[in-house]
Amino acid sequence: MTDTQSPQGLPEPPPIGTSALPPDTFAGHAVVVTGGGTGLGRAIASEFARLGAAIVIASRKPEHLEQGVRAIEEIGGQVMAVGCDIREPEQIAAAFAAAEERFGLPATLVNNAAANFPVPAEDMSPNAWRTVVDITLNGTFFMAREFARRHLLAGTSASIINVGASYAWTGGPGFAHSAAAKAGVKNLTETLAVEWAPYGIRVNGLVPGLFPHEDMTADIQGNLARTSDKDECQPALRVGRLRELGWAATYLASPFAAFIAGHTLVVDGANWQRRSLTNPTVVTVRDQMGKGPFVGE
Ligand code: HXC
Ligand code: NAP
Repeated sequence: MTDTQSPQGLPEPPPIGTSALPPDTFAGHAVVVTGGGTGLGRAIASEFARLGAAIVIASRKPEHLEQGVRAIEEIGGQVMAVGCDIREPEQIAAAFAAAEERFGLPATLVNNAAANFPVPAEDMSPNAWRTVVDITLNGTFFMAREFARRHLLAGTSASIINVGASYAWTGGPGFAHSAAAKAGVKNLTETLAVEWAPYGIRVNGLVPGLFPHEDMTADIQGNLARTSDKDECQPALRVGRLRELGWAATYLASPFAAFIAGHTLVVDGANWQRRSLTNPTVVTVRDQMGKGPFVGE
């Protein structure tokens, strides 16, 4: 960068372990985090645990569940893990039954689990499309439905946070399946917020910008590796710190956000609004991914 003003980017956040919310904000309160054993889900679960919540981690793979349990135990939080594929409504019902038996009806659901891999649209098989939409959109709805039905029957207030992505608004070249599914999640958030607010259930969205972490799938890491310097490519001149997303999630679920519903909060240092007067040269998705020409089946 040759700007003589020496842009310094957005400041670093306060250190991990600090919070703007009172330490007992979620005492006596259980939080279900899908995909809470890895990456952003684990970071979100950790911030809830620091504020006194009991954590329920729900996902498919035992090694991920174990990682999540260890992270919460290290903080000194209460935690349980439940094996659950969010594409399967029966598994979801069983997961909530187990969580309710251990901690009582969880008051917050964080729909964080999703599926994604980079692939040019013309290369994508019908099953690849179905798999991503099934996990990211259908799974989010099935989880929200089970959670809300239990609260409607109990007459209790609650909060849902659906984790999205900014290509819900812009489209996501190279990620047609995930972008379409996340657009569905954003729209679903708005519908459910209106349907369930009268019963005391708030539904909001939370969109991370670029938050690299070690659990990212090899495909996603490979795709990011082709971006030469991730910090320099962000208006903030840095990527997100995991705790920043956790703080946003805990705020949205807290009583201090009691009048916020149907909103999707973007935590990305303005990256998704980035536009240039002169756009960079177009590079096709195939070139970006290092793929040769499309030759058909
Ligand atoms: C093309 C692929 C593919 C790939 C899978 N498929 N990976 N196609 N490129 N890299 C195809 C398969 O060939 C198959 O289609 C279909 O997808 C289903 O694959 P399965 O392996 O049978 O599916 P399953 O075991 O259900 O696993 C789901 C998965 C897997 C999505 C494929 O990667 C997964 O479990 N992911 C969970 C974690 C994850 O995705 N995290 C990313 C969230 S991050 P055929 O036709 O062969 O049967 C995120 C951040 C984005 O969203 C922001 C980045 C900047
Ligand atoms: P990640 O580490 O790959 O996490 C995905 C999680 O989803 C895993 O823990 C996985 O657990 C779980 N999962 C996947 N399929 C599931 C299924 N069928 N049933 C239950 N759980 C399932 O990804 P991440 O980067 O933390 O992403 C978390 C969320 O942030 C996602 O919604 C993602 O789209 C969003 N996001 C992330 C970024 C980023 O920069 N990291 C940017 C934009 C949006 P199992 O494998 O154990 O099932």
